Amino acid sequence: MKIAKRIIGQELGQFEIHFREAVKSRVPLLDRIMQYIVKRKGKQMRPMFVLLSARLGGQINDSTYRAASLIELLHTATLVHDDVVDDSMERRGFFSINALWKNKIAVIVGDYLLSKGMLLSLDNKDYKVLQILSSAIKMMSEGELLQLEKARNLNLKESIYYEIIKGKTASLLAACCAAGAACTFDDDTQIEKLRLFGEKVGMAFQIKDDLFDYGNEYIGKPTGNDIKEKKLTLPLIYTLNNCDPSLRREIIYIIKNQNTDKEKVQFVLNEVSKAGGITYANEKMNQYKNEALAILHEFPDNEIRQALEELVLFTTDRTF
Ligand code: IPE
Ligand code: IPE
Ligand code: MG
Ligand code: MG
Repeated sequence: MKIAKRIIGQELGQFEIHFREAVKSRVPLLDRIMQYIVKRKGKQMRPMFVLLSARLGGQINDSTYRAASLIELLHTATLVHDDVVDDSMERRGFFSINALWKNKIAVIVGDYLLSKGMLLSLDNKDYKVLQILSSAIKMMSEGELLQLEKARNLNLKESIYYEIIKGKTASLLAACCAAGAACTFDDDTQIEKLRLFGEKVGMAFQIKDDLFDYGNEYIGKPTGNDIKEKKLTLPLIYTLNNCDPSLRREIIYIIKNQNTDKEKVQFVLNEVSKAGGITYANEKMNQYKNEALAILHEFPDNEIRQALEELVLFTTDRTF
């Protein structure tokens, strides 16, 4: 990400200082866990979207850094909770919080991160950003719940899948771009345009994440977890809706009864690939990417727009 690094590299460093400051705790156990979280940072794509969306409309200021910190805090909170919900023991190339400190502590750590984010905004009267983010958290919870309710249904419709990922992932990326834009744009139609841009990127982002789960590459967290959790995602939904009835029955049987049997799961992975499920998901991901780029191209061409474009391409071409 050469262009992005050049334009907001220094600001990203500033953001990290803000973030580190924001998670400090006087409670020794919490402070220890916070240090662990700060050390194992992720790709920081959300703060980058915040900073670049803001730069597109003007200069980055303190409220932009707070918006970026708030979003990364919320994102981290949802990951800590998500690993409890998904019973996942690895995150960012190391043990997840629940793996090291157990579920009870992980739930509370997630709440702590969330409250720290809220307070950071409230203490500085960043009401607009707080409004954007609170509504995103609501949508994320709705998406995660919809997933728990529906994603194990072996007749899951593609449209419900999109509804799930729009809530659980795209809403936060939409909020990144809207919150960043709200720091520097006065015109609400521009803010809305960037929100929609972020939403499209978010859809592509989650389809990519779901594709990773069908691969064997090392991505810093477990793969194959979705089938283990009986979570149906696009490659499998497409396969079940398009393969012949006997294969469909066989796959459904495995997911219901043999979802922890490595060989059986590998069989499903192979069949999904043969049936074109991976190709199809890639096509859909690229469709969302192109929709995002089309919206971005409504803004004047400059190096900030190019940096955002680079970030979109990274979303779909990344290897972790
Ligand atoms: C993971 O997000 C959660 C999803 C929405 C799929 P990232 O892949 O951005 O996680 P980090 O922050 O880089 O670890
Ligand atoms: C994204 O879904 C989770 C959130 C939006 C919090 P996943 O469950 O697929 O994310 P990973 O794969 O565990 O990062
Ligand atoms: Mg998960
Ligand atoms: Mg995943």
